[in-house]
Amino acid sequence: MPDARGSKEQLAPEPRAAKAASPERAPRLWGGRFAGGPARAVQEFTDSLPVDRRLYRQDIAGSVAHARMLGVAGIIPVADAQALVRGLAQVRKEMDSGAFVFVETDEDVHTAVERRLHELLGPEVGGRLHTGRSRNDQVALDLRLYAKGAITDIGGAVTRLQAALLKLAHQHQADVMPAYTHLQRAQPTTLGHHLLAYVAMLQRDFDRLQDAHDRTDIMPLGSGAATGSSLPLRRDLVAQELDFTSISQNSLDAVSDRDFAVELMAACALVMVHLSRLAEEVVLWSTSEFGFLELSDDYATGSSLMPQKKNPDVPELVRGRAGRVFGHLTAMLTTLKGLPLAYNRDLQEDKEALFGSVDTTGACLDITARMLARATFRTDAMAAAGGDPALLATEVAEYLVRRGVPFREAHDVVGRAVRRAQQRRVPLSELTLEQWQSLHDAFDAEVLELFDPARALARREAAGSPGPRPLRRALARAAVAIKRNQEWLKANRTAP
Ligand code: ARG
Repeated sequence: MPDARGSKEQLAPEPRAAKAASPERAPRLWGGRFAGGPARAVQEFTDSLPVDRRLYRQDIAGSVAHARMLGVAGIIPVADAQALVRGLAQVRKEMDSGAFVFVETDEDVHTAVERRLHELLGPEVGGRLHTGRSRNDQVALDLRLYAKGAITDIGGAVTRLQAALLKLAHQHQADVMPAYTHLQRAQPTTLGHHLLAYVAMLQRDFDRLQDAHDRTDIMPLGSGAATGSSLPLRRDLVAQELDFTSISQNSLDAVSDRDFAVELMAACALVMVHLSRLAEEVVLWSTSEFGFLELSDDYATGSSLMPQKKNPDVPELVRGRAGRVFGHLTAMLTTLKGLPLAYNRDLQEDKEALFGSVDTTGACLDITARMLARATFRTDAMAAAGGDPALLATEVAEYLVRRGVPFREAHDVVGRAVRRAQQRRVPLSELTLEQWQSLHDAFDAEVLELFDPARALARREAAGSPGPRPLRRALARAAVAIKRNQEWLKANRTAP
């Protein structure tokens, strides 16, 4: 599995040894029509158990709801439904503890659970679980249950990173640094304003996850293999028990729809774009050339050769892992694009991609929040860079605008002042009043007082600017958004 390293995988218990040989009483669930089992090579090629066994909680929760419904709807005897529910609880316990033994014929998590149920309850009762159900609608259900949980997990990690950034933004709301365009110093801003830009990106990420949740929260069971069932299934009961808001309305679509997975993976991809940009800035800022940031020793690594090195491997790997998540999204879209309706085995490829995206994104969000909380921002170096008088050239032009000069003319005048200062090898702030006035007669002594970045920032009053007042409002708004996110997470967290 490509994501096993570096991002924590939650797996069902490893089989104790290699899969045990199939016991006599556990034939394949679809064996009736076949003269013999598949070739070993086919079995190995088609098995999805190593990937999908981590869905066992979702699979068992879905089966419990299905079994109860079969009893209530009078499709199977109530006593059998109760026995199935108890048997499933036993399977869950075995899987939780690691006592569960997978056997050779377990193709996937669904067959493993059902096979064990046959062993526990006998074929008479165990054989009733799959009534009115196909693995096609079953796996669609399992994946939706997983995705709903993953949305709140990722949403929680997004919100924790927002909270970490907001805390830093509060601390550094008045700390001046340069804003950059083209990676050239442009104008003064504050570190607080800079950090809040990432809070804003992450809020869009959260909103996207929330939006994807609506289309994930649809219960597909009852769609059967492709066209539902002739049995009087009560789909509403299953939806209710599993906490779904609605049920799917077209069986062909329901068993082959993976849009919800794509949406989650796309949301993860954009999270990774944002994390990767932030990581790039951390890497850049921790160079001697910038010197804006120092990673704590426990969040940096050394060089095996150069004793003096302190390397930013954590943000580099966050930046690097974005590629995996983009790749998973492309893989999923490519898998889907050629599929005729309805279920095709290609769809089995969905899980590795989806799990990979969720694992990697969650791990990167988490480590980024920890790394930032422990980093030291070198506000003195930022202030020195942000105090460069050249960064206030726009202020001078706008000063002329306030005195009635058209902006294009003001821009030209100040441009010539910059050139003159460069020729004389002095900072822009050291031109004399006479020199300013030789460029334009609108200049008066006030021009000499423009070169204080704190005062320049104080003039930035419009909403969304780094001036102290709009920044305070932005900090308060971000705190409200974070609280709203947390409340939504609390109301929508599900844990099968
Ligand atoms: N392991 C399969 C998957 O993940 C389960 C569905 C199998 N359905 C089938 N018709 N073979 O997609």
